[in-house]
Amino acid sequence: MTPPLPKAELHCHLEGTTSPSLVRRLARRNRIPLPENLLDDGDNFIWIDVESFLKTYDQASSVIRTAEDYRDLTYDYLASSAKEGALYVEVMSSPDHAAAAGIDYEGHLEGIVEGIESAERDHGIIGRIIVTCVRHFGPEQAMRVAEAVVHSPHPYVVGFGMGGNELLYTLREFAPAFSLIDTAGLPTTVHAGEWAGAESVADALDALPVSRIGHGVRAVEDPALVERLVREGIHLEVCLSSNIATRVYDDFASHPFNQLREAGLSLSLNSDDPPYFATSIGREYLIGSKFFGLDVEALKLITIEALKYSFANHQTKKELITRVV
Ligand code: ADE
Ligand code: ZN
Repeated sequence: MTPPLPKAELHCHLEGTTSPSLVRRLARRNRIPLPENLLDDGDNFIWIDVESFLKTYDQASSVIRTAEDYRDLTYDYLASSAKEGALYVEVMSSPDHAAAAGIDYEGHLEGIVEGIESAERDHGIIGRIIVTCVRHFGPEQAMRVAEAVVHSPHPYVVGFGMGGNELLYTLREFAPAFSLIDTAGLPTTVHAGEWAGAESVADALDALPVSRIGHGVRAVEDPALVERLVREGIHLEVCLSSNIATRVYDDFASHPFNQLREAGLSLSLNSDDPPYFATSIGREYLIGSKFFGLDVEALKLITIEALKYSFANHQTKKELITRVV
């Protein structure tokens, strides 16, 4: 059997990898009731729009209660990604979701690190962590997360980011948290240009020291901004299935992936929250091939772009890039 095409993922929310069956298993293991109105009769998460997605996401994450839960979640996700050919994955962890479920920063990190080490030992995949704050929890909470990152450094924590509701607060309000991280020498990324328009991507470049944008695809609405992104060497972490599921675009035919690519932007393919969007890193590459005309060489270049813009250290990047053949 030919080995799967080598892949790399830069944008996947760890809590968002919890499948409905795993939510049930964790609720049972932690002896807590399953949150109400979370799953439908067909065992799918219930959500209809961005607000209800984020609410369901927060509820589903609430069954993750221990460092061991974080370990298992990380291991399962990395092992399944490795089976699809992923060489390298950056998982976004959310200490806020962990804290809401009673796990402190060190506890959540300890579990994730164990999952990363076991997955590397068993499957050869390299995992690293981007600690994220949540925009709708506000700038003060974001600063607390940034402080935890700076006060408890770990070699696997390679960056800082922010997800959550793009329509709340301004990015400038989060500048102090990002600046603390920047001063400590860690790179950053932020969700923008997903549920808000091109101006949110411009705001990110103006307000925050980011080298990558989570999604960012709506930059396409402003050609001068696309030029700026190319000029400044900013990478976009594209999540195709996620964008259709949350109705950023009606279908793959309307998605601007190829337009952005042809404009010279550096792009990667990512799963975002796999069970919510019925996807995986392997499926995103398949969609790239089926709906966006990417052949094997183009897909390998996507992997190389992801590795080049990853937050891994220089040596790790170099070694991984030589494995993309
Ligand atoms: N948190 C989890 N998934 C997200 C997404 N797609 N956008 C913003 N925040 C998120
Ligand atoms: Zn995301």
